[in-house]
Amino acid sequence: MSLLITGGTGYIGSHTVVELLNTNQDVVIVDNLANSSTKSLDRVEKITGIRPVFIEADICDKDAMRKVFSEHDISAVIHFAGLKAVGESTQIPLSYYHNNVSGTVALLEVMGENNVKNIVFSSSATVYGENNISPLVETMPTSATNPYGQTKLMVEHILFDLAKSDPEWSIISLRYFNPIGAHKSGLIGENPNGIPNNLLPFVSQVAVGRLPELNVWGDDYDTVDGTGVRDYIHVVDLALAHLKAVNALSILSGCTAINIGTGNGTSVLEIVNKFKEISGVDIPYKISPRRPGDIATVFAKADLAEELLDWQAERDLNAMIADTWRWQSQNPNGFE
Ligand code: NAD
Ligand code: UFG
Repeated sequence: MSLLITGGTGYIGSHTVVELLNTNQDVVIVDNLANSSTKSLDRVEKITGIRPVFIEADICDKDAMRKVFSEHDISAVIHFAGLKAVGESTQIPLSYYHNNVSGTVALLEVMGENNVKNIVFSSSATVYGENNISPLVETMPTSATNPYGQTKLMVEHILFDLAKSDPEWSIISLRYFNPIGAHKSGLIGENPNGIPNNLLPFVSQVAVGRLPELNVWGDDYDTVDGTGVRDYIHVVDLALAHLKAVNALSILSGCTAINIGTGNGTSVLEIVNKFKEISGVDIPYKISPRRPGDIATVFAKADLAEELLDWQAERDLNAMIADTWRWQSQNPNGFE
């Protein structure tokens, strides 16, 4: 039996595939390479000694997905595939709704046809919207402030409704906080297209000289030093949470949303200073106006993951930054 990993050549998917292969789990990757390249497969093979099965296909293409299910014995799906840029989602919302929502519905339909009713979904802390106070707890009301966030919320609603309609479905929606870091080999890591929106890829591209300076979006928030606070989580810890979630699918019924974070908050300037300390490289920055849509503080209550998945984050901020820096300094232009 194999696990189907949609989006498995991307950032979080490739790290999860490494951990699955390390535990001798058979995987089948489906990715349309919209935001990734097959070079990540070469690197995964270098790390694990195993070349994962890869099928270039779009999850929206039901015939292609039916072929995947007919040619492979799939026991469960880890569903990473999706578009993820908040800003871009406001420019091309229909592409986001089509890809993330219609694509997931198509995938679920093909899963149902094949009687595969186990899925772990990549959700996001974005579903907590802007009105809840951290620590964010799974029972809090959800909302969305942009099309990307809407797609995550809509898919969660679809998954809850599906599980309610048919008790054979077992679904876990993992709400990721801020994934950063890279595999300790420095062979795989985050490889964003164009100018990064997220803090860590931006900081690391400043560090290798690809970008001149960081804009710190606001220093007048009610936080430790005025800059935004987030719950950064090492991508390998996040990957390991997926292994635990797949195991839990056989125990948990229905649809369960679970936070995946550390429960700790770190400010932008704390990140910048830690990055300087670990890399030994200066990170020029300037304080700029607040970024629209940002909130001061976001961090998780991470207890449910421990209770239901027997998972907690193990890698600290030093490891997150050291591994980010190893990846970026060894691969200044990503996989190119
Ligand atoms: P990523 O872009 O590196 O990986 C996503 C992968 O999905 C890419 O390889 C892309 O080519 C593929 N893909 C996109 N649309 C597809 C389609 N229609 N058919 C097949 N493949 C498709 O992103 P990531 O950071 O690894 O994120 C993985 C998932 O986690 C996404 O669903 C994302 O929304 C979610 N998530 C990410 C973060 C984050 O900060 N990275 C935070 C919360 C949630
Ligand atoms: N920041 C800067 N300068 C930058 C980039 C970011 O100062 O160039 C600051 C932001 O203002 C924020 C912090 O760094 O305070 C983190 O910003 P990110 O863009 O890295 O992360 P966000 O928390 O804003 O967004 C992330 C994901 C979204 C997801 C959201 C909620 O990118 O997809 O978390 O979990 F929706």
